[in-house]
Parts: sequence; C-alpha cells; structure tokens
Amino acid sequence: MAPIGHWVFNTRMNTEATLASHAGRLNSADPLLPSADPFAGHGGEATAFDARDGDSSAAGLAIRTEVAANSRDSLWRALVEHRLTVRLSGPAPAKSLARILTRWEDHLAEVAPRGDWDTAAVVPRPSRDPAGSAELLRHGFAPVRVLAVRPADRLTAPGPAAEPGVRIRPAEEGDLATAVELYTELQRYDAQFGLVTLRENANQLLTEDLAGQLGRTEPTVWIAELYGRPLGLLRLQFPPETGWIAPYVSADRVGYLSSLHVAEAARSSGVGTALAAHAHQLFDEVGVDAVLLHHALANPTSTPFWCGQGYRPLWTYWYRRPAVR
Ligand SMILES: CC(C)(COP(=O)(O)OP(=O)(O)OC[C@H]1O[C@@H](n2cnc3c(N)ncnc32)[C@H](O)[C@@H]1OP(=O)(O)O)[C@@H](O)C(=O)NCCC(=O)NCCS
Repeated sequence: MAPIGHWVFNTRMNTEATLASHAGRLNSADPLLPSADPFAGHGGEATAFDARDGDSSAAGLAIRTEVAANSRDSLWRALVEHRLTVRLSGPAPAKSLARILTRWEDHLAEVAPRGDWDTAAVVPRPSRDPAGSAELLRHGFAPVRVLAVRPADRLTAPGPAAEPGVRIRPAEEGDLATAVELYTELQRYDAQFGLVTLRENANQLLTEDLAGQLGRTEPTVWIAELYGRPLGLLRLQFPPETGWIAPYVSADRVGYLSSLHVAEAARSSGVGTALAAHAHQLFDEVGVDAVLLHHALANPTSTPFWCGQGYRPLWTYWYRRPAVR
C-alpha cells in the first residue's frame, strides 16, 4: 500500500493532468465555451474528488451555496444547492465520473437532510460534451435546465408573422401591476418544471424587482400590446450588467435575455417572435456578440421556441431534487 504522502502527491498530479486534458477537450467540443472555468471561485469551502480508470480520469469539486428565503434568488432555485463541477479526461471517463458521483453521494448523505425539497444537487456540464450522461441518469439526475446561446451573426428561419395590431413599448412606472401579473404567470408556468419555487412572498419580491427596472432611460422591460391590451413581457440585461453571466461564454460583449412571457390566450400568434426580434435588434444596436438565456428543457413552449430563434444549449444543468432522497 502506498504511503499517504505518496497518495496525496499522486492525486494532485492526477487532478492536474485531468484539468489540462479537460481544457483541450472543451476546446474541441464547443468553440463558444470559455477557456477559463466559469464555476471556479464561486461559493465557500470546496471538497475535491478524483478518480482514474486506465487512461481516462475525472476530477470533481463540490460546493454548497445557500440563499435566504426572502431573497429574490429564492424564487428561481432551491434554498440550498450542492454543486459538483467535473472535469473529464481520456477516451472513456464515464466510469471515473460514476466513482466520483458515488463518493459525492456519501458526502451529501452526511451534510444534506434527507427528503428536503428546498435542497438540490446539481452537476453543470458543457452541453456538447455528453460523456457521463448515462451515469448521471443512473444516479438520479435529470437534465433540467440549459444556458442557451445565440451568436449575433446566427442565421434563422423567419418565425410566424405577428398579428397586425401588436405594439411593443417600454414598460413604464404605471405598468408595474401589469408587469408583475405577467411575471407571476411566467413563474407559475415555469414552476411546473421543478426549479422555480413558488414562495409566499413572491408577489412582494417580484414587485420590488420590477419596480427597480421600470422607467430607466435605457429600458430593460418591454410590453407587447395587442389592440392596447398588454399580453407579453420581455426583460433584458445589457453589458456591463451581464458581468455575472458573461464568463460562461467565449464572447466579448454578452447580452442576457432574462425573461419572455406571452399570456396563454395569445400564444402561437407571433407575439413571442416579435418580442424576440425586438430584443435581438436592441442587442445588435449595442454591439453584443452573443446572447445568453436560461430555460427549462422540459418546457414544451420555450424549448422549440428558442431553438427556432437561433439559440442552442451551451451548458446543461443536471439536477436531483431533493439533493438526498
Ligand atoms: C415561449 C413563448 C414566449 C412563445 O411565445 P409565442 O407568442 O407563443 O411565440 P410565437 O407565436 O411567436 O411562436 C410560437 C410558434 O412558432 C414556432 N416558431 C417560433 N420561431 C420559429 C422559427 N424561427 N422557425 C420555425 N418555427 C418557429 C414555435 O415553435 C411555436 O410553434 P407552435 O405554435 O406550433 O407551438 C410562449 O409560449 C410563452 O410565454 N410560454 C410560457 C412562458 C415561457 O416558457 N417563457 C419562456 C421562458 S424561458
């Protein structure tokens, strides 16, 4: 048996070799992935895992993040998230990943309460590096959410023509109640897919959030009206406010499409396409190179819609909720 010091040294060497090989792997998998790890440096204390199987290996870093029940973030996630970022190397890294997942599970069993819906375990993976997907499924994870990207020069087929009578205008301070209502509908719809969490104080949190956005000189919230009736909501972020999400993509200037919602009765009549075209025009005007957005993969309206609008998965987030069953 190797002495402990030797084992630690070997583990570090293995991890470093895995990291170097992982960077090359991502480079060839997807040119829109960043060269620096966007997950590095987030959260508090990390636990490291390492496994090797022949000429393939995996390294993982587990962290825990928590948001307060009265925070805006609490609307879009579980209060406690355990995240494992993995780096894979070699032609067949799935077995090594499986070992890391087993060890992470032992760790989670010690630190996370069993059956608590406000905990989630999440493994973010580059969408175009599908190695280990079956192992994730075997360990109870499902691909729930993606961060999708649309490069500015993307060519797309034209979507449905908007109904005549649709007008897009910036949301003003007097639109607060309407904007909150549309945003609440979006939240309720999205909650079906398991990540968005309906909270008792949602109305107050959404109101505070939107109130801070209305009436800005550079509008970030837009309303679509049909013959004067508001039925669509679009929310955007421009650089430099997108600094929090920009590291996830290899692009200089990044736009973020925070949300798009069309009232149920008005769907499939081109309103969403008109709002998306408006967003892309605004992003083009400020010289954005790529637009990012999050959506739930199981959402039957957003997944085909965003694909039609030129977005494709960049990062796929595999979730298990609760973190420990
Ligand atoms: C997603 C959503 C905003 C789309 O709005 P919409 O007004 O229905 O969109 P449109 O009418 O412009 O386009 C919808 C249809 O055109 C299709 N489409 C859109 N762009 C297309 C394109 N470029 N090429 C081909 N088809 C296209 C869509 O797949 C959809 O087809 P369907 O009617 O057969 O379902 C709307 O369904 C919605 O609010 N959903 C619930 C909330 C939600 O999930 N929001 C997104 C959160 S990320």
